[in-house]
Amino acid sequence: MTKIFLDTSNIVEMKKWAHIIDGVTTNPSILIKEGGDIKEICEYISPKPVSVEAGGDFYTEAMDLWEWLKPLSEGLVIKVPFLKPNGQDNLLVIDSLIKEGITINCTAIMSFNQAVLATKLGCRYISIFAGRVEDEGGESSTLLRDVANYIDASNPEGVEPLQGVIVGSIRSPGDADRAIRSVFRDNHIVTIPPPVLEKMTQHARAQSTSAEFEKDYTPVKTLQGINNTQAEMIPHPMPQIRQGEI
Ligand code: E4P
Repeated sequence: MTKIFLDTSNIVEMKKWAHIIDGVTTNPSILIKEGGDIKEICEYISPKPVSVEAGGDFYTEAMDLWEWLKPLSEGLVIKVPFLKPNGQDNLLVIDSLIKEGITINCTAIMSFNQAVLATKLGCRYISIFAGRVEDEGGESSTLLRDVANYIDASNPEGVEPLQGVIVGSIRSPGDADRAIRSVFRDNHIVTIPPPVLEKMTQHARAQSTSAEFEKDYTPVKTLQGINNTQAEMIPHPMPQIRQGEI
């Protein structure tokens, strides 16, 4: 099944969703917006994968991040954007980092061609920003499906170094639904911000159905014929729903 990463630097959210998530992704903008201590995040998520992004000159910064955080995090992955701010590609930098033994997530990929080039290098992951592709009028589902198929056809055993696609830039439950359907095999990942993950649990009809069943529910003690006085003394775990509240 598709893996779910949490796209956040908020450790409270990581703890809240720890039973669901397979890893974490961060980026510099998330860290500015949400705060968080990168060292603490790496320690908490280990041994699961955590992506931490390099900036600046990319090569030295990635090396420094790796040397600092790798001893704390078995699953450390360094994110390097496919393009530099000036539009030049980072392929040579990424190739050099991989040759130094650094695990790389080539990030901010927006096209099939960029994805194909990044897969040549031995990255652990390539990150496609579905929302940003659509911001520019692109159609992300076909792109994601084609890249996932391309990777799986090139690497039928799903063996390292390239594990798969991380779909990022998910802004709604609908985005998550389409992304998961597009890259549904075990080696691929969709990274989801906590508010979107929260919304994915919700459905108005599921809630009203649960309330309906709770209203009609007969407690086990009652079914067992234990008298009402005794049954009422047993605390009920769910709030009682009254007529008209649904
Ligand atoms: C994930 O890896 C990305 O950094 C992130 O999802 C970008 O999301 P945004 O396009 O909503 O900022």
